[in-house]
Amino acid sequence: MTLFRGTFLDTPDNPFTGGKLRVGTDVALVVKDGLIVARGPFEEIRGAHPAEHIVDLTGGLVLPGFVDTHVHFPQIRAVGGMGMPLLEWLDKYALPEEARMADAAYASSVADEFVRGLAAAGTTSALVFGAHYAEAVDTLFTAASRVGLRITSGLVVSDRIIREDLLTTPERAYDESLALASRWHGVGRNRYAVTPRFSLSCTDELLASCQRVLEEIPGALFTSHLNENEAEIAAVAELFGGSDYVSTYERHGLVDHRSVFAHNVHPTDVELKLLAESGATVAHCPTSNAVLGSGLFPLGRHLDHGVHVALGSDVGAGTGFSLLKEGLQAYFCQQLLGDHGHPLSSAHLLHLATAAGAKALGLGADVGDLSVGKRFDAQLLRPLDGSPLAVGIEHASDAEDTLARVFTLGTPADIRAVWIDGQLLNDSSGKV
Ligand code: GUN
Ligand code: ZN
Repeated sequence: MTLFRGTFLDTPDNPFTGGKLRVGTDVALVVKDGLIVARGPFEEIRGAHPAEHIVDLTGGLVLPGFVDTHVHFPQIRAVGGMGMPLLEWLDKYALPEEARMADAAYASSVADEFVRGLAAAGTTSALVFGAHYAEAVDTLFTAASRVGLRITSGLVVSDRIIREDLLTTPERAYDESLALASRWHGVGRNRYAVTPRFSLSCTDELLASCQRVLEEIPGALFTSHLNENEAEIAAVAELFGGSDYVSTYERHGLVDHRSVFAHNVHPTDVELKLLAESGATVAHCPTSNAVLGSGLFPLGRHLDHGVHVALGSDVGAGTGFSLLKEGLQAYFCQQLLGDHGHPLSSAHLLHLATAAGAKALGLGADVGDLSVGKRFDAQLLRPLDGSPLAVGIEHASDAEDTLARVFTLGTPADIRAVWIDGQLLNDSSGKV
């Protein structure tokens, strides 16, 4: 057993339904085999466990590990594309890089960069858009297993419209997906996600094969893109006989509590109702939406309909792995919507980046906050003396203000350590 002593901030009570930021000052968590088995004031816990090893994290802030619900592993070397809307960006910028994943050695070095980038940003769990090549997806799961991240990912499938070398067939997609799942699903912290790229690049036959794969893998997730860009939405409507975007998935049984849809910047009320009733999640990806000019995310409409929303970095349209930056951009986005925006506090941002993501990934019983009964997935923020964040924290008025400064000024450079299941991550960069 280990006692972790420090200041812990988390959101076990949802701030979107009246919960408050939980602030544990000079608290100790007792962690046994990765599980938090006790929590309380340090002196009290120390008295009950006088002989246990203490990890002293005082002087910093401990947050739950972040949960990134939408991030593309093969796009890490394609961050920074400017001046293009979605379809042009895919064609000219992202997909040429994704085609390089045909070379498994190349994919493996990208996978290493990817998992290190996630860990260094304090992300401990992620739903990852894989590659169009099965061997490249193997390299991702291999790299994630080495670092110890909680990764859910799968083979990305498309059978029309995008470049030829990324296309598959419904039969091949089925076979390769099941083979990957048999190698990785439920192995260590890995799980499988059925991942059609978006219905624009998928025929009904391919989406039907995705449904068959999903039925064959108990506990698998489903993920894809939805209502991101107006030209994309018009093209989907034309290909699917005028139906709305959610229906293109729903008609194949792909919309339920296991489904995570990225973006949904331009939904209809009918679609929001369906998403809410099905228990699906929308992954809000605010830096990506800004970079590609996709639009301002209607968070208030999602919440009014009862749609579950979490946060995604959407690297490589997104600008990096940090969910601190995504949280800040989510805040900006609602500010820019003026009267139509949903005001966000720092507690909302933390919830979106942690517990909401855990729930989206079906991990809500295990991670997302630092309560007794949860796994110890956590990150320590301790900015260097004199850094902008250190100055900001020093002058904050209370814990919520401190957290607001963390989201405004914090970067991966401020993250000193990351744990999963109570184990300090060793990502071989020497940083965490
Ligand atoms: N829609 C289909 N593929 C992609 C992608 O790679 N990035 C984003 N942002 N949207 C997509
Ligand atoms: Zn995406």
